[in-house]
Amino acid sequence: MLTALKGNILEALSPDILGVHPNSYLVLENGAVVGIYPDLPENMAEASVEDYGDALILQSFADMHLHGPQYEFMGTGMDKPLLQWLESYAFPTEERYADPAYARDHYRILAEDLIRNGTTRVAMFSSLHTDSTLILMEELEKAGVTGYVGKVNMDRNAPPYLCETTEESEQETLRWLEASKAFTLVKPILTPRFAPSCTERLLAFLGRLKAERDLPVQSHLSENLGEIALVGELFPDCRQYWEVYDKYGLFDGRTLMAHCVHSDERERAAMKLRGVHPVHCASSNNSLMSGISPVAQMLREGQSVCLGSDVSGGTTLSMLRTMANSICAAKDRGSMMQDTAQVISIEQAYYMATSAGQSFMGYKTGFTAGERLHAVVLDDTGLPKLPNITLRERLIRAVYRLDDRHIRAVYSEGVRRL
Ligand code: GUN
Ligand code: FE
Repeated sequence: MLTALKGNILEALSPDILGVHPNSYLVLENGAVVGIYPDLPENMAEASVEDYGDALILQSFADMHLHGPQYEFMGTGMDKPLLQWLESYAFPTEERYADPAYARDHYRILAEDLIRNGTTRVAMFSSLHTDSTLILMEELEKAGVTGYVGKVNMDRNAPPYLCETTEESEQETLRWLEASKAFTLVKPILTPRFAPSCTERLLAFLGRLKAERDLPVQSHLSENLGEIALVGELFPDCRQYWEVYDKYGLFDGRTLMAHCVHSDERERAAMKLRGVHPVHCASSNNSLMSGISPVAQMLREGQSVCLGSDVSGGTTLSMLRTMANSICAAKDRGSMMQDTAQVISIEQAYYMATSAGQSFMGYKTGFTAGERLHAVVLDDTGLPKLPNITLRERLIRAVYRLDDRHIRAVYSEGVRRL
């Protein structure tokens, strides 16, 4: 069945190239992209057209780092740096997800909120609880959110109520991977919480599992100075933080590393060489006073940087806000260093919020023929009609000024979900 969306179509073709298609048709066959046309081709004349008028049709968003069980306390606990914040807020909240019924209620609301915000792809941390992790995967899939979810591994440096023995962590990871086969749109990703939470034995186990089953990995890297010092004490044989993950085979092209705020040239070169994907989380870096990531430098060096909300170190689920926050953070870094090369462009922000995550998941960039549609329709027509405003400028304005109230439609895997 042929269908088409009509409107102003914008795609992130590369970190520097915005594909702009004014007043065009995005044609689909059974939910999969056929192509983008200024006029409906004759042989597609029978397509039923959903006309979004002067609205903007964007790729939907990929939030490549957030914590499902932390969603409920977003916007609270704003007064501590990372390690104290984990002890005071994150760990006690995550404990509640030992109860599957509690998890079900909260994860259902989270999944709906993601779709309402136009986020159809995620890489998400659950808690260490296997059954609740499976519930999270189920609720996301039901709502139309695709991507990766990880059962968190943590067998040390955690309070007794939120800590596994190494054996438990290994066995539960295997049980979770087995049960995850039930899902098609949401896949498992190995998730050592961060180096300090895992013994070397557990990291070695996860590295072997990754190699045997060709699994992706997500974790945190060089977020905060106290954390980096702790890693130095716990792993004295590793010169830098990244070497802990690398030592155990957890640092390659299928790895997401959240933050990388304090990654120096050597650490960034290692990420680039291995193809590791840094995930920039500007809101969280601000809230937890972690620092300002050298994201422009990473992009210049050719790294595949993604964006993450890092809910609830971060204070918003909106990837529009997350893009704006990343642009603002880069400008703050630029003004602090008196260096305009620290600034990032709208092309880079939009790419990091969409195509970068898409490509981590094995898809091409932009709206690619043959792939099922992931799109969001943003209605900015209530804003002033400025003379001669370009679609690129309207995208910038949308990032700064619009939110979920302006999202008119969301498509995931070719199906309209909102
Ligand atoms: N490092 C280890 N755990 C966490 C977490 O839950 N949030 C953030 N921001 N950093 C972490
Ligand atoms: Fe995080």
